[in-house]
Amino acid sequence: MQQTLTIIKPDAVKAGNTGNIIAHLQKEGFTIRAMKQLRLTEDQAKAFYEVHAERPFYGELVEFMTSGPVVPIALERANAVKHLRDVMGATNSNEAAEGTIRNLYGTDIGENAIHGSDSDENAAIELAFFFSRSERIGAR
Ligand code: RTP
Ligand code: MG
Repeated sequence: MQQTLTIIKPDAVKAGNTGNIIAHLQKEGFTIRAMKQLRLTEDQAKAFYEVHAERPFYGELVEFMTSGPVVPIALERANAVKHLRDVMGATNSNEAAEGTIRNLYGTDIGENAIHGSDSDENAAIELAFFFSRSERIGAR
């Protein structure tokens, strides 16, 4: 079993799609190990997406991620990191494969409904960003 981090992004929370996205993930075999809803501060959003600090879309990304509440979730499954990336779909919602979460609930390349860790190493870092170790193991 492996854990990965998803974040239901402000566009999807605002649109009332939190429940649909959680149901979709559970149907895909993910178990929820920890979950919360919060609004990121500017400093938190900047830190979370620091790897993109030099990209032209960084400012827009930080503005979007702080525009409303988000729902980070620690998900567990075999092959969790890769499987989440598969069910999310491509970054650009308009290019995401039929039936993927971004195809169903995203709008474009920026407002794309959901985040997913992109490697085992980043999953560990990103899970620790939102959840303490005891939060992730405490609810079994
Ligand atoms: P994420 O990190 O949120 O799971 O998304 P990703 O791996 O599919 O895409 P990534 O390249 O890591 O980009 C992070 C987020 O930045 C926004 N973005 N905007 N306007 C643009 O060209 C652009 N490119 C990326 C998206 O919200 C993307 O998910
Ligand atoms: Mg990414």
